[in-house]
Amino acid sequence: MSVVPIASQPQFLRLGVNIDHVATIRNARGGLHPDPVRAAQVAAEAGADGITLHIREDRRHVREDDLIRLALAVSQPINLEMACTDEMLAIAVRARPHAVCLVPERREERTTEGGLDVARHHSAVAPFVRTLSDAGARVSLFIDPHPVQVAVAQALGAPVVELHTGAFCEALALGDVTRAERELGLLREAAALGAERGLEIHAGHGITFESVGPVAAIPQISELNIGHFLVGEAIFIGFEGAVRRMRSLMDQARAGAIAAE
Ligand code: PXP
Repeated sequence: MSVVPIASQPQFLRLGVNIDHVATIRNARGGLHPDPVRAAQVAAEAGADGITLHIREDRRHVREDDLIRLALAVSQPINLEMACTDEMLAIAVRARPHAVCLVPERREERTTEGGLDVARHHSAVAPFVRTLSDAGARVSLFIDPHPVQVAVAQALGAPVVELHTGAFCEALALGDVTRAERELGLLREAAALGAERGLEIHAGHGITFESVGPVAAIPQISELNIGHFLVGEAIFIGFEGAVRRMRSLMDQARAGAIAAE
């Protein structure tokens, strides 16, 4: 019998539900409705293992008060996405979320368009990894699926990387099969390399009911963070239904990958 190294063994896949875009809708009118914290509670009931949120510099969706209310309202671990700025660092140290994911941020972008280029900005990122780790957060670096980014993330001492799935999901949505296969190959290689180097592997961005299967089947990935599609799909099937269906699709894909081992 061959022994599979622990890092490459298929494992339980956690779902982190990102509630940012519930707040986008709330903010479109000001006021309190829909409340992203209520959405987090619904997501938790529907099978989310964690709740993710990204406080952006321009506060276009969630704000610090949402984070504070969230921490009081749900028992699931909270994953705060943030840019490497002193303002965000102070918020994270005050709020003490379970995990912090460092992401790039440009004011003019519509969403987080690429991973954090840790190879280029390692000396700027390093103190954030250190300070957040010292404050007790499990630090993750949101990177493009590239071997150099994975190696530098490890050298920076972050225990987790989150692989940016946006390019794969976009190619799939556009029906560009060749590009989708290439991008999926990059995700598979980066996940295997990261796990070999002892990193915990997460993935996210742009994931839909269509794209979740191939990503969930990558055995080294232990967590997916999904937001925009779930909030959009909630218009048609409800937020609880959208989270439940996503959970079921990712569980099916992971079970299929285990069975194919
Ligand atoms: N993971 C990270 C690090 C992100 O920045 C985002 C977007 O905020 C997501 C996951 C979720 O992406 P989406 O909203 O496209 O599902």
